[in-house]
Amino acid sequence: MIGVFDSGVGGLSVLKALREELPHEDFIYIADSGHAPYGERDEAHAIARSRAVAAHLVSRNVKALVIACNTATAAAIHSLRADYPLLPIIGVEPALKPAVALSKTGHIAVLATRSTLGSGRFQALLDSQAGLARFTLQACDGLADAIERSAENRDTTEIIASCARYTRAAGIFGTQTGQIDTLVLGCTHYPFARPYLEELLGPHVQIVDNGQAVARQTRRLCAPMLNSPSFPAPSSGQVDLFTTGQPQTLQAAAGRWLGLVGLVKPL
Ligand code: DGL
Repeated sequence: MIGVFDSGVGGLSVLKALREELPHEDFIYIADSGHAPYGERDEAHAIARSRAVAAHLVSRNVKALVIACNTATAAAIHSLRADYPLLPIIGVEPALKPAVALSKTGHIAVLATRSTLGSGRFQALLDSQAGLARFTLQACDGLADAIERSAENRDTTEIIASCARYTRAAGIFGTQTGQIDTLVLGCTHYPFARPYLEELLGPHVQIVDNGQAVARQTRRLCAPMLNSPSFPAPSSGQVDLFTTGQPQTLQAAAGRWLGLVGLVKPL
């Protein structure tokens, strides 16, 4: 199995891309919703939780680990790679480089958690794109949490209000000189708010996330260990879902967004 985790249901957006890219692989997904959000607490919390969740996945003999969370990647990927030097570990970070390639106005907005935007790892990523575009950074307190809650109660009012508030705070979107024409979703929860963002920003603003890039990178790193389409493992394509929070939240999210009906187990 390939292990995947996030602070909650957001990493399902990455799991979706992983299943499309690697349909013969089995996955085990852990939503650490009982200790979410990571992005509005200190770095030590994200590191401690990432280590605890990774230890659980490693105890189940995963052949690779995907950190399906920008906040946990920024805080903990170094520690996890030090803890498990032989395990392929794939992280996710805001798609600045693809956004630079797409943007015509050269003005890009990045929505992410406060913790991701304040991290040294993100600063280094930003520095690597210095001079290539203008970046407006917007922390979105509460948005991941609103998405988490909507999975079950289907109430999108708070998501829509947050998306409106944070895109307005980022600046003017459009295709004219100086306007923001590209939006980076720097948190794995936010792809589930994409329809509302598209409606707010209109068809000319491009929205980018990193799910597919992470899935392709996982395929590259795991190539020698993957099940082959002609000889897949007998159980291939299976997904085991665990949560440290309310099982019905992950159950609802996995059913609604990935069409997965398997039983969610508490961790
Ligand atoms: N899904 C996480 C990310 O990609 C953030 C959610 C949280 O704040 O816990 O950053």
